[in-house]
Amino acid sequence: MSEKPTIYKGLEGIYVYETAISYIDGFNSRLYYRGYRIEDLAEHGSYEETVYLLWYGRLPTRRELKDFKGNLRENMELPPPVIEVIKKIPKDTHPMEALRTVVSYLGNFDPGRFDMSLEGMFRKAIRLTAKFPTIIAAIARARQGKEIIDPDPRLGLAENFLYMLNGERPPELWARAMDVSNILYAEHGMNASAFATLVVGSTLSDYYSAIVAGIGALRGPLHGGANELAMRQFIEIGDPDKVEEWFEKARAAKRRIMGMGHRVYKSYDPRARIFKKYAKMFADSVGGDLKRYYEVAERLEEVALAKLAEKRIFTNVDYWSGIVYMGMGIPLDFYTPLFAMARVAGWSAHLFEYVAQNRLIRPRAYYVGELDKEYIPLEQRG
Ligand code: ACO
Repeated sequence: MSEKPTIYKGLEGIYVYETAISYIDGFNSRLYYRGYRIEDLAEHGSYEETVYLLWYGRLPTRRELKDFKGNLRENMELPPPVIEVIKKIPKDTHPMEALRTVVSYLGNFDPGRFDMSLEGMFRKAIRLTAKFPTIIAAIARARQGKEIIDPDPRLGLAENFLYMLNGERPPELWARAMDVSNILYAEHGMNASAFATLVVGSTLSDYYSAIVAGIGALRGPLHGGANELAMRQFIEIGDPDKVEEWFEKARAAKRRIMGMGHRVYKSYDPRARIFKKYAKMFADSVGGDLKRYYEVAERLEEVALAKLAEKRIFTNVDYWSGIVYMGMGIPLDFYTPLFAMARVAGWSAHLFEYVAQNRLIRPRAYYVGELDKEYIPLEQRG
């Protein structure tokens, strides 16, 4: 057998290709999309503008943005059979599973679904980015037995999502918070779900299969599933005075603090800082339980960072987003779908970039089992 190679568990520190989409400076709390600081994009930009930036590599002019938004709006509606499937999904299905099913089914309606040319993928990415909010709102309403609402072509993606979810135009703060959430979650380098999409894309399979792989990877509690679980952890603690006791028990049980720790950030995630600002706005304006959960989260952050910062474990993007979503009355299990709704842009950007310089992704696993064992026929094995 060959000499044992270095094994990079979890592919930590391995670079799989060159990218110009985003850059994480993990020790200095910095994130850039195409060279622009995330703080500037969240302060001044919109999700549509961010998607344009990620896909085309530059900010759009006013005219280009108008056309791009128009293109997205024209693609928001779902084919009627897809709506029928959404209505038939069992009510106890997790919305991430439902999303995976619907995106897969939607692929069947795309006449150019096997077209992996840049233009072909681009057309599909427009369609899917536009449809994600419609799909997720429809899954939420169907689960409650409510009628499904068509998108309003006058509204942008974030506002439309809230409109389709609730049947009325959202307050300004909600629409802005959802847009900012989309900007913050749009892209994040070679994370597990982006890599999953590239593994599928690199076989030249098809765009929908790649996105479905991304959804599957994102769902896990160590990745995007953490935003739902972070919120559940605040609810479980329930009271800021119980944080210390809960934290000690969690540490003793080797339980991880959800929404903390990151493979790349060894400092406070800059996206978490922005979400925290919005979480505070919602906690202050909504009050009641939400305010209490905010205080729990704030106390837990303080206690956890005091103990974990020496291990370079800090707050990540998934810690505060749930408070913002709860402030808008979004059900807990829809928090990860909201992550996916934004991230489809980043997955697509990486697919465009990677497939253009494609090389099949095919790593190896070092074999440590036995060799040359004697095969005993079934009838002699007892
Ligand atoms: N709480 C407590 N301890 C932690 C946490 C945490 N959230 N995260 C890591 N650690 C500890 C580990 O127990 C380990 O300690 P040890 O060296 O004493 O055994 C050490 O820090 C290193 O942990 P690893 O799991 O090896 O680090 P990795 O880079 O693989 O972990 C991960 C990254 C999976 C995100 C981890 O921090 C985690 O599980 N966090 C909680 C889940 C979460 O918030 N996920 C969302 C990440 S952001 C995103 O995907 C959008």
